[in-house]
Amino acid sequence: MNRRNTVIPGLLCLMLLSVGVAKADEALYQVKDGYKVDANTLQGFRTWRQAACDRCHGANQEGMVGPSLIDSLKILTKQQFKTTLIEGRPDKGMPIWGENKAVMDNLDNLYAYLKGRSDGAITKAHVQPMDQ
Ligand code: HEC
Repeated sequence: MNRRNTVIPGLLCLMLLSVGVAKADEALYQVKDGYKVDANTLQGFRTWRQAACDRCHGANQEGMVGPSLIDSLKILTKQQFKTTLIEGRPDKGMPIWGENKAVMDNLDNLYAYLKGRSDGAITKAHVQPMDQ
């Protein structure tokens, strides 16, 4: 086999690998000063407000009739979070959100916002855009 035939596939593999690594490294959320966040995370906060999740989980996610999501997001996986929203737990008082387009379109953004709150990186529940 000549050299060319091994170098090119090798380079291709490296390129694919670095794309994979770059993706995995992408932060779930970005925050400055505890409350200035990237656009997706901000959208998560807006969805939280729009769906009025705070009615049951508290304005600071601290829990009311629903559990504290500060605690819950330390335990739930992202997939469990999504399933809980899509299917709800109607027998336990958590509504089904699967038919709510605004919520379904923003599951990742909601997760990013709530995870940032749960991690303690987003220190204020009421966030603002980062680039202002
Ligand atoms: C009408 C009240 C109510 C509203 C509104 C509500 N929830 Fe809930 N939620 C609950 C209750 C009650 C539970 C606990 C169910 C149980 O005991 O398993 C819960 C559970 C959850 C859980 C799982 C917590 C865990 O530890 O397993 C998540 C995540 C969650 N809610 C997110 C949300 C989000 C995001 C919204 C807004 C889109 C929302 N909830 C709106 C009442 C509510």
